[in-house]
Amino acid sequence: MVGSIKRLFSKGLFSSSTKTVPVVGALPQHIAIIMDGNGRWARNRFLPRVAGHQRGVEVVRDVVKKCVQQDIQYLTLFAFSSENWRRPAEEVSFLMRLFMQALKREVVKLHENNIRLVLIGDRSRFTPELIHAIEAAETLMADNTGLTLTIAANYGGRWDVLQAMNQLIKTEPTNNKVFEEEDLMPFLSMHYAPEPDLFIRTGGEKRISNFILWQLAYTELYFTDTLWPDFDDVSFDEAIRSYQQRERRFGRTSAQIAEI
Ligand code: IPE
Ligand code: IPE
Ligand code: MG
Repeated sequence: MVGSIKRLFSKGLFSSSTKTVPVVGALPQHIAIIMDGNGRWARNRFLPRVAGHQRGVEVVRDVVKKCVQQDIQYLTLFAFSSENWRRPAEEVSFLMRLFMQALKREVVKLHENNIRLVLIGDRSRFTPELIHAIEAAETLMADNTGLTLTIAANYGGRWDVLQAMNQLIKTEPTNNKVFEEEDLMPFLSMHYAPEPDLFIRTGGEKRISNFILWQLAYTELYFTDTLWPDFDDVSFDEAIRSYQQRERRFGRTSAQIAEI
């Protein structure tokens, strides 16, 4: 296969990335990150947990910059899970305020850098002010052609599959129809992006925590003990290097991959 990646498109949308094979050594086109370890980073410094979240936002800025520099097309960040509401009320409201603040502060810079910002997740629990700020930012950047930066906030992978299924059934009454993957995919929150090539989780835990479940089916997983606030350029490069050494087979044999 010529070129780094050959992808199939159907109905103007991405079909499953598992149908094509990126060559070994290629850069990931889509990186998805669970940014974990903010609380522990703060605790190690005898600081309140929220200090870790604050520092975490700065790391987001650096990672976005790295992706732009390396011409990575999609970056998806897990900022707040549908389960994070279970945290102490003060931490939740701090996180919401921080989100609002970061949005206000960064929008112009993101736009100037041709970045397209998209938020995925259930917005219904956000304040009207936050919903408005998100919508304004998305509208402003909708036609940008650089990095697509997706923020998953009040997001859960199971919620996503269910909401997609409910939409599908509403638009297309079942009548005993057996739906295919391709029927559901346009309704998933991240229908606009290819499936992630590389998943990174910082902070040492080795779990998915209800992140984008459907799309991670064949993503390369990378776990690091580095806490998110310490995740620097060197850590980022290490994750990329690890990805570049992997042979993605999607069920095929190594010999078959060599023939492509
Ligand atoms: C991740 O860091 C940030 C969010 C979930 C918002 P944590 O806050 O989970 O940090 P740890 O895991 O407690 O160290
Ligand atoms: C996952 O981190 C969610 C985000 C990073 C936003 P958590 O720290 O909440 O994950 P669990 O609960 O330990 O699995
Ligand atoms: Mg955590």
